Amino acid sequence: MVIGVLQEAEPGETRVAATPATVQQLLKLGYEVVVEAGAGDASSFSDAAYVEAGATIGAPLSADIVFGVNAPAKAQLDGLKQGATLVSLLSPRLDPAMVEDLAKRPITAMSMDAVPRISRAQSLDVLSSMANIAGYRAVVEAAHAYGRFFTGQVTAAGKVNPAKVLVAGVGVAGLAAIGAAGSLGAIVYATDPRPEVADQVKSLGGEYLSVESAEVEVSATGYAKEMSDDYNTRAAALYAELAPDVDIIITTALIPGRPAPTLITADMVASMKRGSVIVDMAAANGGNVEGTVKGEAVVTENGVTIIGYTDLAGRLPAQASQLYGTNLVNLMKLMTPEKDGVLVLDFDDVVQRGITVVRDGELTWPPPEVQVSAAPAAAPKAPVEPPAPKEPMSDQTRLGIVLTAAAIFFGLVAISPATLVPHLTVFALAIVIGYYVIGHVHHALHTPLMSVTNAISGIIVVGGLLQIGRHDDTITAVSTVAILLASINVFGGFAVTRRMLAMFSRS
Ligand code: NAI
Repeated sequence: MVIGVLQEAEPGETRVAATPATVQQLLKLGYEVVVEAGAGDASSFSDAAYVEAGATIGAPLSADIVFGVNAPAKAQLDGLKQGATLVSLLSPRLDPAMVEDLAKRPITAMSMDAVPRISRAQSLDVLSSMANIAGYRAVVEAAHAYGRFFTGQVTAAGKVNPAKVLVAGVGVAGLAAIGAAGSLGAIVYATDPRPEVADQVKSLGGEYLSVESAEVEVSATGYAKEMSDDYNTRAAALYAELAPDVDIIITTALIPGRPAPTLITADMVASMKRGSVIVDMAAANGGNVEGTVKGEAVVTENGVTIIGYTDLAGRLPAQASQLYGTNLVNLMKLMTPEKDGVLVLDFDDVVQRGITVVRDGELTWPPPEVQVSAAPAAAPKAPVEPPAPKEPMSDQTRLGIVLTAAAIFFGLVAISPATLVPHLTVFALAIVIGYYVIGHVHHALHTPLMSVTNAISGIIVVGGLLQIGRHDDTITAVSTVAILLASINVFGGFAVTRRMLAMFSRS
């Protein structure tokens, strides 16, 4: 079968659905590839590079499978041959008119932005790959508009404070923004209604700010739900407090199928310092910031730049095309089980079913719901009974134990030969002093303490060796047991010490 790669019709689109590298992978799957002349120009991939990779330059619309980035223009759709398979970003959830139009055509249409969020489908998840690039680019745009260092410096000419960045919404784009801002040296704060992201923020060097609300809970779908007034009021208080202090705000908050929530109000923007920058990554879906102009950068009266670009991923076109092209290659791998260049659409596979909008002219949208592989919802915690407080030992019991121990000791002294008495005294004192010395060491330090008491065990081994040769079976037996136990302590101690040292060693 032949795969055709379209020149994008949408003005300003810089991405292309295949790169010379992905063309080579498509050829390995048994397909022929036809690329429209100039399709890769805006991503810096020349026609010659595609030809070198094994593609031909020609008319993609006559191909069996047609790759695009955005939904094709009407003229392009009209040119598709009967039975063709179209694969591109079709936004079927947001564009019912497009779905209706596609359903009238004798084609199969697959939408790459409808990939279900299951682990297996991650390699073809275009929303993730583009959000990752966009998050990074949002920081680059912010740094450019900010016009100052992100990192703090102490120089002979004076001290420069690090920039403070707030990331609102820690999905794929938010995490990429935290990573990029942190690596430039900024102090990064982040917030999200899904508390499960706290560790991810921390692992990227950011500080997670939680909004204390009863509604905050681990998401069972991976997506956030629309938040209640209680949450929104508390979040607004947090943003209002932070806005005058931070230099950059990057908002990424989206709720599937709903307009983007407003997080930063005009008052908060007005409270920001002159020269601060906001990047509203939700601009395409209505924006998270009051005052955002979709697709543009505007400067407010108090000198705050609000960036509402909707083509952030396309501003890094070569890599965006490479990742999008790889997502398409991974889809083709899934749909070409024999690697023979023959596309097989398997409706039993949730991924293929989930992205198919139209199959051979028959409307198949919306697909059945898919159980996603996000973090499982936290089970309600059973109330934990606090452990019963230990009854302190009564004075009588304590006195009883001491008197009994003393009676046993005096009894032993009474029946022992005179030479044993000093040893027994030393033994009793060793127990008392040892109890008090070790008893006051913190529990966590008991193991290291014990691992270095080999010296005491060594003395026992020496004593046992001196006694073992006596012609008395009892003494020999007791010495043997003493040597055995002390040896276990010595070798065990060395083993424990080695393990503990290994824990701190870097290699
Ligand atoms: P998204 O683009 O739908 O939303 C962006 C972020 O905005 C989310 O983190 C969301 O919690 C947050 N948000 C929503 N309402 C908010 C509010 N009022 N205030 C502040 N923040 C708000 O999400 P995205 O980036 O697509 O991913 C969400 C999660 O799904 C991620 O944790 C990601 O790891 C997971 N995921 C899993 C995939 C898979 O398993 N195949 C693929 C893609 C994402």
